Amino acid sequence: MFNDEVSQIKKNQNLFVKTIIEPFKIKSVEPIKFTTVEQRAQILKKAFYNPFFIHAEDVLIDLLTDSGTSAMSAQQWAGIMEGDESYAGARSFFRFEKVVRDLTGLKHIIPTHQGRAAEKILFSIVGKKEIFIPNNSHFDTTRANIEFSGATATDLLCDEGKNPDLIAPFKGNMNVATLEKFIKEHGRENIPMCFLTLTNNSGGGQPVSMKNIRDVKNVCKKYNIPLFLDACRFAENAYFIKLREKGYAKKSVKKIAQEMFSYADGATMSAKKDALVNMGGFLALNNDELAMNARNLLVITEGFPTYGGLAGRDLEAIAQGLEEVLDEHYLEYRLRSTAYLGEKISSVGVPILQPPGGHAIYLNAKKYAPHIPSHQFPGQAIVGDLYVRGGIRSVEIGSVMFGKYDEKGKHIAPTLELVRLAIPRRVYTQSHIDYVIEVIIESYKSRKKLRGMKIVWEPPMLRHFTAKFEII
Ligand code: F0G
Repeated sequence: MFNDEVSQIKKNQNLFVKTIIEPFKIKSVEPIKFTTVEQRAQILKKAFYNPFFIHAEDVLIDLLTDSGTSAMSAQQWAGIMEGDESYAGARSFFRFEKVVRDLTGLKHIIPTHQGRAAEKILFSIVGKKEIFIPNNSHFDTTRANIEFSGATATDLLCDEGKNPDLIAPFKGNMNVATLEKFIKEHGRENIPMCFLTLTNNSGGGQPVSMKNIRDVKNVCKKYNIPLFLDACRFAENAYFIKLREKGYAKKSVKKIAQEMFSYADGATMSAKKDALVNMGGFLALNNDELAMNARNLLVITEGFPTYGGLAGRDLEAIAQGLEEVLDEHYLEYRLRSTAYLGEKISSVGVPILQPPGGHAIYLNAKKYAPHIPSHQFPGQAIVGDLYVRGGIRSVEIGSVMFGKYDEKGKHIAPTLELVRLAIPRRVYTQSHIDYVIEVIIESYKSRKKLRGMKIVWEPPMLRHFTAKFEII
């Protein structure tokens, strides 16, 4: 073809914007089981209206979580065969360590079986009564691990992040002024580290800007407090920075991610998200003494420091996944397909937390079912309805997950009542998502028929996993 023809085609391409397609083809498929509305109504009742009790086999489209649900690539599966299963010093560990160090620049790389294991080790060392750990928003396992140690977990989210209707680019940001006030109030000596969760899962999968990371770092530096990143969704956060923050449009996502980590003194990571694997995680940090204590705990809870609760093949798959997740065609498709779901349902009036997050769409249950008060769990009612109507599994993030009781046993509601539709990575196609859109719109049209729920049994902590409900 002649050069002028090529440039003509290129010019035309800019005029006709095309669909952003899945940047992969499918080599292996997993059938999904179809059930009837009657069957699902029975299944839900038998599961005490808690989606965690539904057998996955009885779910058509599973949006319960984006964690550990990724489809691995052919190269990752090849890595599974390549895995070195030696107890100590496995080749797979050194590949893993090299990739994580190249990305984070951190000195000590400690593998754990998942994110919460890294949290458990870290907070077992630094956490105790009178200790405070600030974060933009703690994820539930982070909060639970901090509180289990006796310490206090505090959310210092920016004001924009608290308004579900506001469209702003970086609603995951921490309120920097409040952080400084918080440090002065509680004393630098009682704050062993400050966290930033990227993206902010509990606050709608919203990103944190590079400027905010830098500003938080500067405050931390002033008071000599280490900054840690909860880096589960670091690649999605980095791509949001590329799309939305001035000065980053032309930088590679890898460079952006490396800059994010350059401000950190440590990180916890659930590899089950942006490392595109089904199991794994790590704790990474610079402080030698803390690392030594962490490795000591690792040996008695997870395993030897070069495998830490994982098989060599898992380490191999994580290393490969961390490289693949930085592919910008993948990230473009990833963020675009989540936004597609959000835009389609909100365009017909379904209230969602705005703007769409990276890994999930969050329905605003307070607006969706305003006739159900918080203490009757509007989100849980919607979760049940989406399952019965369409076999879609979602999760409540509101009064069930974060509700508390006062001294008199009265319900204290969190600020937001949400239902999360988390999108597994590289698993569902556009027609699956189109089906989800249709089911949600149908549910929303019948929203007035939704009924409140009550808890008939609950455990002492993390109650959303095992609580049992009845319809009122
Ligand atoms: N931090 C964040 C921000 C998370 O989203 C999660 C897990 C963890 C830590 C813990 O990691 O599961 O590997 O132990 N989030 C999952 C979810 C469970 O559904 O959002 P883990």
